[in-house]
Amino acid sequence: KKAIFLTRHGESEFNVSGRIGGDGALSSSGKRYAKAMADWIIMQPEFYNREQGHMHIWCSTMKRTVQTANAFKKRIPNVKIYQWRALNEIDAGICEGKTYKQIESEMPNEFTARAKDKLSYRYPQGESYKDVIQRLEPVIFELERSTQPVLVIAHRAVLRCLYSYFMELPIQSIPHLDLNLHTVYKLSPGDYKTEVDRFTFGL
Ligand code: G3H
Repeated sequence: KKAIFLTRHGESEFNVSGRIGGDGALSSSGKRYAKAMADWIIMQPEFYNREQGHMHIWCSTMKRTVQTANAFKKRIPNVKIYQWRALNEIDAGICEGKTYKQIESEMPNEFTARAKDKLSYRYPQGESYKDVIQRLEPVIFELERSTQPVLVIAHRAVLRCLYSYFMELPIQSIPHLDLNLHTVYKLSPGDYKTEVDRFTFGL
């Protein structure tokens, strides 16, 4: 069975200022991650297979994942990068672009409601984790059916859902899962369970 590599985009300017959502570009550290991660992935035996060709690279339609994925283009000109809207980060609606502190002080009811039930809570004019899980269904379907290894470059909330699905973690824990920046999670599906290896880049 083929491996699935998961990573968040490199650190973005929004990550640096602690704001959620938006469509920010990578920070300088995020750009360094994109290069180091691409250099590392293309050395993995799964990256190129004589029969199957290159690993597939999937990202969202947001600047920070596209920019991370583009590091591959310079290294492997004919690499295919697929952009999926379904991989876009959870839509934080009226909270987009705010810090958690701002949400807590400006919209205390929203903040408390989310803390109480992060899985079901839907941001006004935005999404809940349950919404994200639902829109990821076609992505999961294609991942399971893909005959080639795939690298998914996405976002924290989205990857929490994908990781939990493949690792068979309980649904309630999804919104609380720790998935670090500048880390590649390699999932290797076995007959009984999926093994995970983590590779962290100190940048
Ligand atoms: O902007 C979205 C975050 O990456 C998701 O984090 O669901 O823990 O607020 P959160």
